[in-house]
Amino acid sequence: MKIGICSDHAGLDYKTRLISYLLGKGYEVVNFGTDSTDSCDYPDFAHPLANAVAAGEVDGGIAICGTGNGMAITLNHHKGIRAGLAWNTAVAALVKEHNNANVLVLPARFVSYAMANACVRTWLATPFAGGRHQRRIDKIEA
Ligand code: RB5
Repeated sequence: MKIGICSDHAGLDYKTRLISYLLGKGYEVVNFGTDSTDSCDYPDFAHPLANAVAAGEVDGGIAICGTGNGMAITLNHHKGIRAGLAWNTAVAALVKEHNNANVLVLPARFVSYAMANACVRTWLATPFAGGRHQRRIDKIEA
């Protein structure tokens, strides 16, 4: 499975650690930046990740900024992207089970790294439930 990942400066440390974690678990990882601690603009990294997910170049994405909201707002401008913010494992499970989020968004300034990692593991392991949730997703695109 190939995962795209991006962050701004606020999410860089968690991105770096998550890349190591995912590679260690056998995932293929495409890093869309940033790779600097310099202050930067989250859309510069969210748009390329969204394009790659929407085009099927990666199987899913992870995006990290301070609150997660800048990434989520930007990603959700793209047709076919369902970017969902998670801050605990219950929400990380539901964002896949109910919303079939193809990008997981993490708020680095408001969760520990251990929690961010747990959210990633949960999101990856949880299947989409389909059924009434597919009907609701269809209405997003309608
Ligand atoms: C950067 O200071 C911060 O604004 C950004 O990481 C994010 O929280 C925006 O939504």
